[in-house]
Amino acid sequence: MGVDLSVSLGGARLANPVVTASGCFGSGKEMSRFVDLHSLGAIVCKTVTPEPRLGISPPRGAETASGMLNAIGLQNPGVQAFRDNDLAWLAEQGVPAIASVGGHSVADYVQCIEALRGAPGLIAIEMNLSCPNLEDRGFMFALSAERTAEVTAAARAASDVPVFCKLSPDVTDLVAIAEAAVGAGADGLSLINTTLGMAIDPRTFRAKLSTGTGGLSGPAIKPIAVRCVWQVHRALGHIPIIGMGGIATVDDAIEMILAGATAVAIGTANFYEPAASEQIARGLADFCESRGITSLDEIRGQVKEEG
Ligand SMILES: Cc1cc2nc3c(=O)[nH]c(=O)nc-3n(C[C@H](O)[C@H](O)[C@H](O)COP(=O)(O)O)c2cc1C
Repeated sequence: MGVDLSVSLGGARLANPVVTASGCFGSGKEMSRFVDLHSLGAIVCKTVTPEPRLGISPPRGAETASGMLNAIGLQNPGVQAFRDNDLAWLAEQGVPAIASVGGHSVADYVQCIEALRGAPGLIAIEMNLSCPNLEDRGFMFALSAERTAEVTAAARAASDVPVFCKLSPDVTDLVAIAEAAVGAGADGLSLINTTLGMAIDPRTFRAKLSTGTGGLSGPAIKPIAVRCVWQVHRALGHIPIIGMGGIATVDDAIEMILAGATAVAIGTANFYEPAASEQIARGLADFCESRGITSLDEIRGQVKEEG
Protein backbone atom coordinates (compact mmCIF):
# COMPACT_ATOMS: atom_id res chain seq x y z
CA MET A 1 0.00 0.00 0.00
CA GLY A 2 1.37 3.42 -0.88
CA VAL A 3 1.46 6.16 1.75
CA ASP A 4 1.44 9.70 0.43
CA LEU A 5 3.05 11.87 3.11
CA SER A 6 3.28 14.98 0.92
CA VAL A 7 1.74 18.17 2.26
CA SER A 8 1.07 21.66 0.95
CA LEU A 9 2.26 24.66 2.92
CA GLY A 10 0.43 27.60 1.41
CA GLY A 11 1.39 26.58 -2.11
CA ALA A 12 4.79 25.12 -1.25
CA ARG A 13 4.69 21.33 -1.73
CA LEU A 14 6.75 19.20 0.67
CA ALA A 15 7.50 15.49 0.13
CA ASN A 16 6.73 14.85 3.80
CA PRO A 17 5.59 16.96 6.77
CA VAL A 18 8.75 16.79 8.90
CA VAL A 19 10.88 19.93 8.97
CA THR A 20 13.48 21.29 11.37
CA ALA A 21 12.72 24.06 13.87
CA SER A 22 14.55 27.35 13.39
CA GLY A 23 17.69 27.72 15.49
CA CYS A 24 17.92 24.01 16.28
CA PHE A 25 19.52 22.67 13.10
CA GLY A 26 21.73 25.51 11.84
CA SER A 27 21.20 25.63 8.11
CA GLY A 28 21.57 21.88 7.73
CA LYS A 29 25.21 21.65 6.66
CA GLU A 30 26.68 20.61 10.02
CA MET A 31 23.75 18.27 10.67
CA SER A 32 24.14 16.52 7.31
CA ARG A 33 26.77 14.28 8.99
CA PHE A 34 23.98 12.78 11.08
CA VAL A 35 20.85 13.22 8.96
CA ASP A 36 20.01 12.47 5.34
CA LEU A 37 18.59 15.91 4.59
CA HIS A 38 16.63 14.46 1.68
CA SER A 39 14.56 12.46 4.16
CA LEU A 40 13.02 15.71 5.47
CA GLY A 41 10.26 17.87 4.00
CA ALA A 42 12.40 21.01 4.29
CA ILE A 43 15.02 22.68 6.44
CA VAL A 44 13.82 25.69 8.40
CA CYS A 45 17.00 27.70 8.90
CA LYS A 46 18.18 29.78 11.86
CA THR A 47 16.63 33.26 11.97
CA VAL A 48 18.61 35.85 10.02
CA THR A 49 18.59 39.63 10.38
CA PRO A 50 19.70 42.35 7.95
CA GLU A 51 23.14 42.66 9.57
CA PRO A 52 25.32 39.97 11.21
CA ARG A 53 24.76 39.53 14.96
CA LEU A 54 27.03 37.98 17.59
CA GLY A 55 24.16 37.20 19.95
CA ILE A 56 24.31 37.69 23.68
CA SER A 57 27.06 36.74 26.13
CA PRO A 58 27.03 33.30 27.79
CA PRO A 59 25.58 31.44 29.58
CA ARG A 60 22.98 31.08 26.81
CA GLY A 61 21.45 27.75 27.65
CA ALA A 62 20.35 25.77 30.69
CA GLU A 63 18.85 22.32 31.04
CA THR A 64 15.49 22.11 32.82
CA ALA A 65 13.14 19.26 33.68
CA SER A 66 12.09 17.81 30.31
CA GLY A 67 13.39 20.79 28.41
CA MET A 68 15.86 23.62 28.10
CA LEU A 69 16.04 27.36 28.43
CA ASN A 70 17.88 29.42 25.85
CA ALA A 71 18.72 33.02 25.14
CA ILE A 72 20.93 33.14 22.08
CA GLY A 73 20.09 36.64 20.93
CA LEU A 74 19.69 35.83 17.22
CA GLN A 75 23.33 35.11 16.46
CA ASN A 76 23.55 34.94 12.66
CA PRO A 77 25.82 35.92 9.75
CA GLY A 78 23.37 38.43 8.26
CA VAL A 79 20.92 37.82 5.45
CA GLN A 80 23.30 38.29 2.52
CA ALA A 81 25.96 35.88 3.81
CA PHE A 82 23.16 33.45 4.64
CA ARG A 83 21.86 33.61 1.08
CA ASP A 84 25.31 33.31 -0.52
CA ASN A 85 26.56 30.45 1.68
CA ASP A 86 23.86 28.55 3.55
CA LEU A 87 20.94 28.83 1.13
CA ALA A 88 23.19 28.29 -1.86
CA TRP A 89 24.59 25.11 -0.25
CA LEU A 90 21.09 23.75 0.42
CA ALA A 91 20.07 24.53 -3.15
CA GLU A 92 23.13 22.66 -4.46
CA GLN A 93 22.07 19.62 -2.42
CA GLY A 94 18.54 19.90 -3.79
CA VAL A 95 17.09 20.34 -0.29
CA PRO A 96 14.09 22.70 0.02
CA ALA A 97 14.69 25.58 2.43
CA ILE A 98 12.45 27.78 4.53
CA ALA A 99 14.26 30.94 5.60
CA SER A 100 13.46 32.45 9.00
CA VAL A 101 13.69 36.22 9.16
CA GLY A 102 13.75 38.57 12.13
CA GLY A 103 14.42 42.16 13.02
CA HIS A 104 13.68 45.08 15.27
CA SER A 105 11.43 46.99 12.88
CA VAL A 106 9.07 46.35 9.98
CA ALA A 107 11.78 47.65 7.65
CA ASP A 108 14.22 44.99 8.95
CA TYR A 109 11.85 42.17 7.99
CA VAL A 110 11.20 43.67 4.56
CA GLN A 111 14.93 44.14 3.98
CA CYS A 112 15.58 40.45 4.73
CA ILE A 113 12.75 39.29 2.49
CA GLU A 114 13.89 41.49 -0.38
CA ALA A 115 17.42 40.14 -0.03
CA LEU A 116 16.02 36.62 -0.36
CA ARG A 117 13.83 37.19 -3.41
CA GLY A 118 14.50 34.72 -6.19
CA ALA A 119 16.85 32.56 -4.10
CA PRO A 120 17.05 29.05 -5.60
CA GLY A 121 15.51 26.35 -3.41
CA LEU A 122 13.70 28.80 -1.15
CA ILE A 123 10.13 27.54 -0.77
CA ALA A 124 8.80 29.80 2.01
CA ILE A 125 9.63 32.51 4.51
CA GLU A 126 9.02 32.08 8.22
CA MET A 127 8.66 35.35 10.12
CA ASN A 128 10.10 35.01 13.62
CA LEU A 129 7.74 37.42 15.37
CA SER A 130 9.27 36.82 18.80
CA CYS A 131 11.80 39.60 18.18
CA PRO A 132 11.69 42.81 20.24
CA ASN A 133 10.13 45.63 18.22
CA LEU A 134 12.14 48.76 18.93
CA GLU A 135 9.34 50.82 17.35
CA ASP A 136 7.00 49.51 20.06
CA ARG A 137 8.92 49.84 23.35
CA GLY A 138 10.80 46.62 22.68
CA PHE A 139 7.69 44.42 22.92
CA MET A 140 7.71 41.34 20.71
CA PHE A 141 5.72 41.75 17.48
CA ALA A 142 3.80 38.56 18.32
CA LEU A 143 2.36 40.08 21.51
CA SER A 144 0.19 42.52 19.56
CA ALA A 145 -2.42 41.76 16.90
CA GLU A 146 -1.86 45.22 15.41
CA ARG A 147 1.95 44.88 15.15
CA THR A 148 1.62 41.35 13.84
CA ALA A 149 -0.74 42.54 11.11
CA GLU A 150 1.49 45.47 10.22
CA VAL A 151 4.67 43.45 9.76
CA THR A 152 2.84 40.58 8.04
CA ALA A 153 1.24 42.86 5.44
CA ALA A 154 4.61 44.41 4.63
CA ALA A 155 6.25 40.99 4.39
CA ARG A 156 3.50 39.55 2.21
CA ALA A 157 3.87 42.47 -0.21
CA ALA A 158 7.65 41.97 -0.40
CA SER A 159 7.81 38.17 -0.70
CA ASP A 160 7.71 36.01 -3.81
CA VAL A 161 7.13 32.81 -1.77
CA PRO A 162 4.53 31.83 0.89
CA VAL A 163 4.90 33.69 4.20
CA PHE A 164 4.44 31.86 7.52
CA CYS A 165 4.11 33.81 10.77
CA LYS A 166 5.68 32.18 13.80
CA LEU A 167 3.76 33.12 16.91
CA SER A 168 4.44 33.11 20.63
CA PRO A 169 2.32 31.18 23.13
CA ASP A 170 2.87 33.96 25.68
CA VAL A 171 -0.36 35.81 24.91
CA THR A 172 -3.84 35.88 26.40
CA ASP A 173 -5.65 35.24 23.12
CA LEU A 174 -3.52 33.44 20.56
CA VAL A 175 -6.43 33.05 18.14
CA ALA A 176 -6.77 36.84 17.91
CA ILE A 177 -3.08 37.17 16.96
CA ALA A 178 -3.38 34.30 14.46
CA GLU A 179 -6.44 35.92 12.88
CA ALA A 180 -4.56 39.22 12.60
CA ALA A 181 -1.67 37.49 10.80
CA VAL A 182 -3.98 35.65 8.41
CA GLY A 183 -6.08 38.77 7.85
CA ALA A 184 -2.92 40.61 6.82
CA GLY A 185 -2.02 37.97 4.26
CA ALA A 186 -0.05 35.24 6.05
CA ASP A 187 -0.16 32.03 4.01
CA GLY A 188 0.35 29.92 7.11
CA LEU A 189 1.35 29.89 10.76
CA SER A 190 4.17 28.32 12.73
CA LEU A 191 3.18 27.41 16.29
CA ILE A 192 4.85 27.74 18.73
CA ASN A 193 7.99 29.61 19.59
CA THR A 194 9.47 29.07 23.04
CA THR A 195 7.63 30.24 26.16
CA LEU A 196 9.36 32.63 28.53
CA GLY A 197 10.94 31.00 31.56
CA MET A 198 13.67 31.40 34.15
CA ALA A 199 15.95 29.19 36.22
CA ILE A 200 18.11 30.13 39.21
CA ASP A 201 21.12 28.24 40.61
CA PRO A 202 20.42 27.76 44.34
CA ARG A 203 24.14 27.42 45.12
CA THR A 204 25.33 30.63 43.48
CA PHE A 205 22.02 32.55 43.66
CA ARG A 206 22.62 33.46 40.02
CA ALA A 207 20.17 33.21 37.15
CA LYS A 208 21.25 30.36 34.89
CA LEU A 209 21.04 32.57 31.76
CA SER A 210 22.99 35.79 31.39
CA THR A 211 19.77 37.56 30.43
CA GLY A 212 17.85 36.24 33.45
CA THR A 213 14.92 34.98 31.43
CA GLY A 214 14.90 32.90 28.26
CA GLY A 215 12.82 30.66 26.03
CA LEU A 216 11.67 27.30 27.36
CA SER A 217 11.50 24.45 24.83
CA GLY A 218 11.41 20.68 24.68
CA PRO A 219 8.93 18.04 25.92
CA ALA A 220 8.01 20.32 28.87
CA ILE A 221 6.11 22.63 26.51
CA LYS A 222 4.44 20.02 24.31
CA PRO A 223 0.99 20.25 25.95
CA ILE A 224 1.08 24.04 25.50
CA ALA A 225 2.02 23.61 21.84
CA VAL A 226 -0.69 21.02 21.19
CA ARG A 227 -3.24 23.30 22.85
CA CYS A 228 -2.14 26.27 20.72
CA VAL A 229 -2.27 24.33 17.45
CA TRP A 230 -5.67 22.87 18.35
CA GLN A 231 -7.15 26.28 19.29
CA VAL A 232 -5.90 27.97 16.14
CA HIS A 233 -6.82 25.09 13.84
CA ARG A 234 -10.36 25.11 15.26
CA ALA A 235 -10.67 28.82 14.47
CA LEU A 236 -8.79 28.89 11.15
CA GLY A 237 -9.07 25.37 9.79
CA HIS A 238 -8.14 26.31 6.22
CA ILE A 239 -4.74 27.74 7.20
CA PRO A 240 -1.71 25.43 7.18
CA ILE A 241 0.12 25.21 10.52
CA ILE A 242 3.67 24.04 11.14
CA GLY A 243 3.29 22.61 14.64
CA MET A 244 6.23 22.44 17.02
CA GLY A 245 7.08 22.35 20.70
CA GLY A 246 8.50 19.25 22.33
CA ILE A 247 8.14 16.87 19.41
CA ALA A 248 10.63 14.06 19.98
CA THR A 249 8.90 10.90 18.72
CA VAL A 250 6.57 9.70 15.96
CA ASP A 251 3.72 9.63 18.50
CA ASP A 252 4.40 13.30 19.32
CA ALA A 253 4.23 14.17 15.62
CA ILE A 254 0.93 12.29 15.22
CA GLU A 255 -0.45 14.09 18.27
CA MET A 256 0.37 17.45 16.68
CA ILE A 257 -1.26 16.43 13.38
CA LEU A 258 -4.38 15.25 15.23
CA ALA A 259 -4.51 18.71 16.84
CA GLY A 260 -4.52 20.22 13.35
CA ALA A 261 -0.93 20.68 12.18
CA THR A 262 -0.13 20.26 8.49
CA ALA A 263 3.61 19.87 9.13
CA VAL A 264 5.71 19.34 12.25
CA ALA A 265 9.05 20.89 13.19
CA ILE A 266 11.67 19.20 15.34
CA GLY A 267 13.67 21.52 17.60
CA THR A 268 15.19 20.67 20.98
CA ALA A 269 15.20 16.92 20.25
CA ASN A 270 18.06 17.55 17.76
CA PHE A 271 20.33 18.56 20.63
CA TYR A 272 20.22 15.14 22.30
CA GLU A 273 19.37 13.00 19.26
CA PRO A 274 20.79 14.60 16.09
CA ALA A 275 19.00 12.03 13.90
CA ALA A 276 15.58 12.70 15.51
CA SER A 277 14.06 14.47 12.50
CA GLU A 278 14.98 11.71 10.06
CA GLN A 279 13.81 9.02 12.48
CA ILE A 280 10.46 10.76 12.87
CA ALA A 281 10.05 11.27 9.11
CA ARG A 282 10.70 7.57 8.45
CA GLY A 283 8.62 6.49 11.44
CA LEU A 284 5.61 8.49 10.25
CA ALA A 285 5.51 6.46 7.05
CA ASP A 286 5.63 3.22 9.07
CA PHE A 287 2.88 4.48 11.41
CA CYS A 288 0.59 5.29 8.48
CA GLU A 289 1.36 2.02 6.71
CA SER A 290 0.56 -0.04 9.81
CA ARG A 291 -2.73 1.81 10.33
CA GLY A 292 -3.87 1.77 6.72
CA ILE A 293 -3.63 5.58 6.49
CA THR A 294 -2.87 6.59 2.90
CA SER A 295 -2.70 10.36 3.43
CA LEU A 296 -2.26 12.59 6.49
CA ASP A 297 -5.38 14.46 5.34
CA GLU A 298 -7.29 11.52 6.85
CA ILE A 299 -6.13 12.30 10.40
CA ARG A 300 -5.34 16.03 10.43
CA GLY A 301 -7.40 17.75 13.12
CA GLN A 302 -9.24 14.51 13.86
CA VAL A 303 -8.84 14.61 17.64
CA LYS A 304 -11.93 13.22 19.37
CA GLU A 305 -12.87 15.70 22.02
CA GLU A 306 -15.50 13.65 23.79
CA GLY A 307 -15.76 10.12 25.14
C1 LIG B 1 18.69 26.91 21.08
C2 LIG B 1 17.43 27.37 20.40
C3 LIG B 1 17.51 28.38 19.44
C4 LIG B 1 16.35 28.81 18.80
N1 LIG B 1 16.45 29.79 17.85
C5 LIG B 1 15.33 30.18 17.18
C6 LIG B 1 15.42 31.13 16.12
O1 LIG B 1 16.50 31.61 15.75
N2 LIG B 1 14.26 31.50 15.52
C7 LIG B 1 13.04 30.98 15.85
O2 LIG B 1 12.03 31.35 15.25
N3 LIG B 1 12.94 30.05 16.83
C8 LIG B 1 14.05 29.65 17.50
N4 LIG B 1 13.95 28.68 18.47
C9 LIG B 1 12.62 28.12 18.79
C10 LIG B 1 12.38 26.79 18.07
O3 LIG B 1 12.42 26.96 16.66
C11 LIG B 1 11.02 26.18 18.47
O4 LIG B 1 9.98 27.05 18.10
C12 LIG B 1 10.91 25.91 19.96
O5 LIG B 1 12.14 25.52 20.51
C13 LIG B 1 9.85 24.84 20.27
O6 LIG B 1 10.16 23.60 19.66
P1 LIG B 1 11.00 22.44 20.42
O7 LIG B 1 10.37 22.26 21.77
O8 LIG B 1 10.90 21.23 19.55
O9 LIG B 1 12.41 22.93 20.55
C14 LIG B 1 15.09 28.24 19.13
C15 LIG B 1 15.03 27.20 20.08
C16 LIG B 1 16.17 26.76 20.71
C17 LIG B 1 16.07 25.64 21.72
